[in-house]
Amino acid sequence: MTDTPDPLPHLGPVDHIGIAVRDLEAGKHLYGEVFGLRLVFEDEVPTERVRVAAFDGGGMKLELLQSTDPDGPIGRFVEKRGEGIHHVCYRVDDVAATLKHLQAQGLRTLDDEPRPGAGGCRVAFIHPKSAGGVLVEISQPPAEGGHA
Ligand code: CO
Repeated sequence: MTDTPDPLPHLGPVDHIGIAVRDLEAGKHLYGEVFGLRLVFEDEVPTERVRVAAFDGGGMKLELLQSTDPDGPIGRFVEKRGEGIHHVCYRVDDVAATLKHLQAQGLRTLDDEPRPGAGGCRVAFIHPKSAGGVLVEISQPPAEGGHA
């Protein structure tokens, strides 16, 4: 055993805010045409059962999420609470290590292992009950850099 502790993983900067929408085309019109933000990428994430349109929020993104399945996480969220802010995502260097660290701090997580997210990222979620009522995502970008 060594006494040298591993460096504590830290969260941040904020990568994106996830916003649940009923209609991605309407959301894209609002953020792209009305607000005038630049569309960064569009993606479909089958494991999350969502289509994603990400807009440049200046150092972070606004990710519009439309469910592809009423029983998916975003489908259930919209059914229960309507459209709106769904989660805040922090970029991390090592999602697996950060997840273990947060679990060791007693936080309840929705994932025991990182899973694939939008744009080739590896992601995991922290339960809102352990994070002040906010669903928190941590995301490790792909090695190639992925989406800016
Ligand atoms: Co997200």
